[in-house]
This record gives sequence, structure tokens and C-alpha cells, in this order.
Amino acid sequence: MPAILRRRPPQAAEPRTHPDAAGPAASPTGSLMLLTLLALAVILSIPAARAGDVRSADMLAHTCAGCHGTDGASAGAAMPSIAGFDKGYLVTVLTDYKTGLRPSTIMGRIMRGYTDQEIAAIAGWFAARPWVSTDRPVDGQIAHQGEQIHERACATCHADGGRDQDQASPRLAGQWAPYTRYALETCRAQGMRCQPRKMAERVLELSDAELAALAHYYESQK
Ligand code: HEC
Ligand code: HEC
Repeated sequence: MPAILRRRPPQAAEPRTHPDAAGPAASPTGSLMLLTLLALAVILSIPAARAGDVRSADMLAHTCAGCHGTDGASAGAAMPSIAGFDKGYLVTVLTDYKTGLRPSTIMGRIMRGYTDQEIAAIAGWFAARPWVSTDRPVDGQIAHQGEQIHERACATCHADGGRDQDQASPRLAGQWAPYTRYALETCRAQGMRCQPRKMAERVLELSDAELAALAHYYESQK
């Protein structure tokens, strides 16, 4: 994969909602409110760091489980699995949430509670956990549509059906489709501010149905 310039100008994090958030709070505002409440509960439950305190990686990672599942294997459609991601990618993403470089509904607020050292410890902890793919039914026709778009527009960077990952880009194969869709819609809404630019150019051309087909295809790749 070519070297990628991933720094981008800061931008206000627009509140977004998860398109496929299901369950008790199915309305967009409802699910956003639920997420916000969850985040607040999580932030309040993080023991305040006093001078000299060292919070262990286990303790730090425990706070993420409410949303990202046990050991980073998410159990909810709108929440990404994060186990087994490259440590360097996790450090960058978590830092980008903290500084506001990466738009988010929740993660920015959460990451502000951690030092750089703690972020490195959390990233190392999740990088060492095994990836678990989702196990949802596959619609062969939609997955096939997604595969065709993937081969044309995405495969150069997200090789091997999205299984490839490195410190610049995440694994997509086996990820929850509603999260992937949310990530792609967020990218498209950012326009050319979505990074990397080459990805933005391609995502910008795609319709809602095409983004959904791509997300379904990646989910079907275990
Ligand atoms: C209240 C729920 C919640 C908690 C707690 C939470 N997250 Fe998240 N996480 C989210 C949501 C929602 C997103 C999607 C971005 C957004 O909208 O904020 C996300 C996105 C991410 C991503 C991006 C995944 C990708 O594919 O790029 C990573 C990495 C991540 N979270 C790590 C963590 C870690 C590590 C912790 C614990 C320190 C944590 N999260 C705690 C809800 C949560
Ligand atoms: C030029 C290389 C490149 C191309 C082409 C590309 N991507 Fe990416 N993609 C990346 C990188 C790098 C990241 C990590 C971005 C970051 O750090 O926020 C990424 C991230 C993603 C993410 C995760 C975003 C998140 O917030 O969790 C998804 C989903 C994705 N790409 C899908 C696609 C799809 C679908 C296509 C084709 C339409 C595509 N990409 C084309 C390089 C590329």
C-alpha cells in the first residue's frame, strides 16, 4: 500500500447517529441519547487518576467492554469489533479521537480521559486479543454486488477481501455491517476531508445502496 498522508485538519465533530442501531432506542435521536448516557456512565465510572496512580491495561480496557464487547469482540451491530487490530493503528485512531481529528459521536469524549501512555497500553492490550468475525446470515446477491465494487474501487488498499490490515488501515472483513456502513456514510458526508483522499474520491461516488452492499460484502468475509 502506498504511503498515506493521514493527518487532516481538525473539524467539529458532527453528532451522527447509527443508521442500523436497533433495539429500545431505534429512533436516531433516541440512540444518540442512549450512547451519550452510556458514555457519561463510562466516563464517571473511570476511577479518577490521582498523582502516582498507575491504571493497569486490564483496568483501562475493561471500560471499553460495555460497548465493544468482551475482549473487543463486539456483540452489537453499531459497535465495531476492535480486537486484533494493529497496535499502531489503534494508537493513531484513539489519539485522533482524543484530539478531534477523527469525527465521532462518543469516542472523542471518552479518549480525553486518557494519557498518551495509557492509550499505548490500551492499544497493546486490544492488539493482543484474537479477532472474532460476526456470524450473521449472508445475502449472496448483495455480497456479490459489494464484491464487484470492492474489486474496482477498494481492493488496492483493503486487500484479501478486507482481511489485510496494517498500522494505517483496519481490518474490514468480518466487521459488523452496520458499523462499516456508518463509517462509510461518515466518510462520504465529510467529502474530501475524509482521509485518505484516494478513498474519499471513491466513496463520494457511491450511492447509499452501494455503501450498504460493500458493508454487507465485508461482513460476509470471515
Ligand atoms: C459508550 C460506548 C463506547 C465506549 C465505552 C467505547 N467506545 Fe469505542 N466506539 C464507540 C462508537 C459509537 C464508535 C464509532 C465512533 C463514534 O461515533 O464515536 C467507536 C469507535 C471505536 C474505534 C474505531 C474502530 C475502527 O474500525 O476504526 C476504536 C478503535 C474504539 N472505538 C476503541 C475504544 C476503546 C479502546 C475504548 C475504551 C477505552 C472504547 N472504544 C470505549 C463506542 C464506545
Ligand atoms: C488509497 C487507499 C485506500 C482506498 C482506495 C480505500 N481505502 Fe478505506 N481506508 C484506507 C485507510 C488508510 C483507512 C484508515 C483511515 C483512518 O485512519 O481513519 C481506511 C479506512 C476504511 C474504513 C474504516 C473507517 C472507520 O472509520 O472505521 C472503511 C470501512 C473503509 N476504509 C472502506 C473502504 C471502501 C469501501 C473503499 C472503496 C470504495 C476504500 N475503503 C478505499 C485506505 C483506503
